[in-house]
Amino acid sequence: MTDGKILLELCFGTTCFVMGASKLQEIESLIPPQYKNKVEVKAHTCLDLCKNATYMKAPFVKLDGEIISEATVEKILKAIERKIDG
Ligand code: FES
Repeated sequence: MTDGKILLELCFGTTCFVMGASKLQEIESLIPPQYKNKVEVKAHTCLDLCKNATYMKAPFVKLDGEIISEATVEKILKAIERKIDG
């Protein structure tokens, strides 16, 4: 946590992008207003998770260091909600 914000790290590297991260580009605008100022969004070119993805699948996203595999907008928004509301 930085400044009381949770950190959402998106990966737009080749593997993640072709596996669906392209659909996550709008996530920032889809975060509900009550959560928006509590989430910091960062984009990466590779989170180094695709190389060792034996059990998990791209696209990868990290929420406060927690890995979300096969990330979708719905999955990410649910995870944000869970993190903030507990
Ligand atoms: S391209 Fe996303 S983790 Fe490597």
